[in-house]
Amino acid sequence: MTVKVQFLPHSITIEAQPGELILEVAQKAGVFIPTGCLMGSCHACEVELGEGNPVCSCIKVIPAGSDFLNIYVYSDPVW
Ligand code: FES
Repeated sequence: MTVKVQFLPHSITIEAQPGELILEVAQKAGVFIPTGCLMGSCHACEVELGEGNPVCSCIKVIPAGSDFLNIYVYSDPVW
């Protein structure tokens, strides 16, 4: 099963596999997500899954169970 992932606000859509790191899927799609620690502690890489569910994209994988996922990438990180 593949998941259709749409990165916002870019509106770039790419097919991904459940279990793939969100950060890697973004890189494949050509979407830039700022990173720092790559360990889930600095939150530089934070994105929002669906409706306002912030996660660290360097440690969070594409969830199984739905075939479409919106990921909102902050265009103006405040940290
Ligand atoms: S890069 Fe630091 S939490 Fe992801």
